[in-house]
Amino acid sequence: MLTLNKTAGVFKPSKRKVYEFLRSFNFHPGTLFLHKIVLGIETSCDDTAAAVVDETGNVLGEAIHSQTEVHLKTGGIIPPVAQQLHRENIQRIVQEALSASSISPSDLSAIATTIKPGLALSLGVGLSFSLQLVGQLKKPFIPIHHMEAHALTIRLTNKVEFPFLVLLISGGHCLLALVQGVSDFLLLGKSLDIAPGDMLDKVARRLSLIKHPECSTMSGGKAIEHLAKQGNRFHFDITPPLQRAKNCDFSFTGLQHLINKIIIQKEKEEGIEQGQILSSAADIAATVQHTTACLIVKRTHRAILFCKQRDLLPQNNAVLVASGGVASNFYIRRALEILTNATQCTLMCPPPRLCTDNGIMIAWNGIERLRAGVGILHDIEDIRYEPKCPLGVDISKEVEEAAIKVPRLKMNL
Ligand code: KG4
Ligand code: ZN
Repeated sequence: MLTLNKTAGVFKPSKRKVYEFLRSFNFHPGTLFLHKIVLGIETSCDDTAAAVVDETGNVLGEAIHSQTEVHLKTGGIIPPVAQQLHRENIQRIVQEALSASSISPSDLSAIATTIKPGLALSLGVGLSFSLQLVGQLKKPFIPIHHMEAHALTIRLTNKVEFPFLVLLISGGHCLLALVQGVSDFLLLGKSLDIAPGDMLDKVARRLSLIKHPECSTMSGGKAIEHLAKQGNRFHFDITPPLQRAKNCDFSFTGLQHLINKIIIQKEKEEGIEQGQILSSAADIAATVQHTTACLIVKRTHRAILFCKQRDLLPQNNAVLVASGGVASNFYIRRALEILTNATQCTLMCPPPRLCTDNGIMIAWNGIERLRAGVGILHDIEDIRYEPKCPLGVDISKEVEEAAIKVPRLKMNL
């Protein structure tokens, strides 16, 4: 049962008086000049998040409950556990976001919720909560594609026009796409196995970084970035697995196996058991981070060249947006900057807290859709979540057929 009510706990007393006074003049705070306000709800993976955003990109209220620490302890996300945690937190998180915004739920223009892709059990919690709320408040519903939301977040923080290239790198996703409009995406390539965040999480787990005093509460990728600063990437001379196909598809399992071999070798040399921290953990972190950056840059380089060759992007000052949890990594950002400098492009990244999953990006996607007039539902009868859902129109075969050779870039990082 939903207990959100339209006034209780939403207004702070002092603001309420002002509100009532202004209302007597038919003035709704936040809605006279800013007509559109969207509540966004995100539960596609392991974060329960909500936010209230207006049409100029002002974040009026935000709340998030991260499950990272729980999943770190179990060594990965267990879907029923994630589902239970979403159930326990969703009402509080939505209420907190609304309360922080100081607007009345009746002033919302719409409710936007991630319905694809993601973990079925997690998506289900956000969707059923949202549909009840939509029914209760009689508001339009805007179903959101999680990856589209990541891709468009940059338009909330920066003035970025269509078209632009986006690189989405997170724990569950890895793709390169051309963004031509709010719901107009061309998919250039994706990971054929695991996502880079997943690979970094696995390496961090294999290195038992959760036992490292400096990294115990960090996600795997963040722990790798943190430790890599103390390490020497030249300590291990590794040749990244060859990716011969001249396409924009990624693969990270080869690198994961290579790093695993190094770890096993080092454990033997240092005479320690799996589960203890290697003295060379920082060097391994630096190596895996650098190699990951190089693999990502190479595919992205080809995507830029392809888009320019086909006039899908301007020859000068084209924008490359990097987003998703792994894009909050500053080493990888610097590697991408080397690429954008060499190709006369501009790299843009949302701030790290907007790169990882959050409610703001969902609410903003709702605003974008409201402004464009696409995907706004008044009838929610047949809405279902979709755990698997590709992004846009897949032109990766065309990219491969173009067989673009990527010139060497010196990655002096
Ligand atoms: O976007 P996100 O919050 O959720 C997904 O949609 O997957 O990304 C989470 C992923 C995790 O794999 C995490 O290890 C990785 O992003 N990550 C990082 C960093 N911070 C989070 N990877 C590399 N460097 C970081 N600083
Ligand atoms: Zn995400």
